[in-house]
Amino acid sequence: MASPSARPALAAVGSPVPAHVAIIMDGNGRWASARGLPRAAGHRAGRDAVRRTVEAARELGVDVLTLYAFSTENWRRPSDEVGALLALLHEAVLAEAEELHRSGIQLRVCGALDGLAPETRAELDRVVALTSGGAALILNIAFNYGSRAELARAARLLAADVAAGARTPESIDEAAVAARLYTAGLPDPDLLIRTGREQRLSNFLLWQCAYAELVFLDVLWPDFGRDHLVAAIATYQQRQRRFGAAPGG
Ligand code: FPP
Repeated sequence: MASPSARPALAAVGSPVPAHVAIIMDGNGRWASARGLPRAAGHRAGRDAVRRTVEAARELGVDVLTLYAFSTENWRRPSDEVGALLALLHEAVLAEAEELHRSGIQLRVCGALDGLAPETRAELDRVVALTSGGAALILNIAFNYGSRAELARAARLLAADVAAGARTPESIDEAAVAARLYTAGLPDPDLLIRTGREQRLSNFLLWQCAYAELVFLDVLWPDFGRDHLVAAIATYQQRQRRFGAAPGG
């Protein structure tokens, strides 16, 4: 992975390019309704936007792209929409596997995968293994993901270690928690983008986005493309990141 200083200064986007971009892809349903189409058609159009965004992120020199594809709360949607979303993910992974591999894109998945159908789980495992050597971009799909559930899971894992005598409560620090999140080993997001005009985090990467720059865009996800990503990165580049330090410090 490129170090920040080695990151190419791309004329189109300036510098620095955020190492990790996370996106809440919102607005598929409204995009479909505006066209008199079923919500599933919006999700299918959203898949094309995913393809454009992955390609653009790779070209622009982003190291990690995390996409919120399905939340633990999305199970509350009508069963036909849930079925359509699950089928879409399965199809997309199946259809894009070879292209991801050829393009050097490493697929990862974060979330409670035991909630998935065994065939989808097996397909994901296959493509994650196939692409594991990819060095151009890590594409991290948050699937059946919820930040609070992720933090509760980390707490359970640490409590089990303490109960087994493998560690003391005092030894539990931020690094110990971070190492038990689904994102262990990945840098925290530098830039979080949400499309679809809403301005909230919706239980997405709450721990990891402690210092992320937030950019909310007035575009529905199926209309998102390279230009929107470039614009969000340009906004990010105008922010002064302080990580709690004094201005100018
Ligand atoms: C939110 O829009 C979007 C989702 C819940 C699903 C996102 C899924 C995709 C873009 C499909 C393809 C993904 C991959 C990784 C292949 P919404 O339905 O909440 O829209 P609304 O707010 O307009 O109702």
